[in-house]
Amino acid sequence: MDIQAIKTASDMILEKISTRPSVGFILGSGLGVLADEIENPVMIKYQDIPHFPVSTVEGHAGQLVIGELKGMPVLAMQGRFHFYEGYGLDEVTFPVRVMKELGIETMVVTNAAGGVNPSFAPGDLMLITDHINNVSDHPLIGANNKELGVRFPDMSTAYSPHLKKLAKRAADHLDLPLQEGVYVWNSGPSYETPAEIRMIQYMGGDAVGMSTVPEVITARHANIDVVGVSCISNMAAGIMDQPLSHDEVIETTERVREQFLHFIKELINQFKEG
Ligand code: 6GU
Repeated sequence: MDIQAIKTASDMILEKISTRPSVGFILGSGLGVLADEIENPVMIKYQDIPHFPVSTVEGHAGQLVIGELKGMPVLAMQGRFHFYEGYGLDEVTFPVRVMKELGIETMVVTNAAGGVNPSFAPGDLMLITDHINNVSDHPLIGANNKELGVRFPDMSTAYSPHLKKLAKRAADHLDLPLQEGVYVWNSGPSYETPAEIRMIQYMGGDAVGMSTVPEVITARHANIDVVGVSCISNMAAGIMDQPLSHDEVIETTERVREQFLHFIKELINQFKEG
């Protein structure tokens, strides 16, 4: 990982903003609307940031939105980079390195995921308690740069126990049901077969998706605290007798948009109270 590239990208962003963000959001498919809630926004298109990859997938705007959410200085990625698009994991995780360089200490990751736990239903929000890397690749493979983190980062608290508490408190406060579970990263872009979903159930997964895990590993390497929320956009293959489609993913995220926005804003309130 090229430290100079990280600094060049960070410097370009710093030239356009007056306050350093302290919380970074990665917004998943259909969840980019959160960025529209950011006040006094400065928008920077990915294509204008030196060394940033450029997003291609539908439903992803491809820009940083930097401003305030509930008075807290935040940065949101409206659209992320996926492994299945052909980006290397160094590209997928480059924005996390830039977040660290900007001074971000807390990262909120969101995604749309398939429900694997049969007690879930489409539209549920799930607090990510832990993850499983089910892809034979890893963002930290290669020479380790000590300036960025340790060679063998601990993942026993990949999802901050303190931030999990705050997330549950936020849900309680709003009387909003919040599922909890393990997120499994598969590369995509195909959805899984029913047999693969049974395997994921046996391995301890509750939800499955095509993102998030590389960014979380990188954030922990950089010593950024992480909290993660999945929107269960559909049930995974074989759980209901029904084919899967990206349209359903987008329809569900649109349906739960208000709940999702309320939850994230209350989470920010909880961050402020510590
Ligand atoms: Cl069922 N699988 C994967 N890998 N990603 C998803 C999904 C399923 N539903 C939404 N995203």
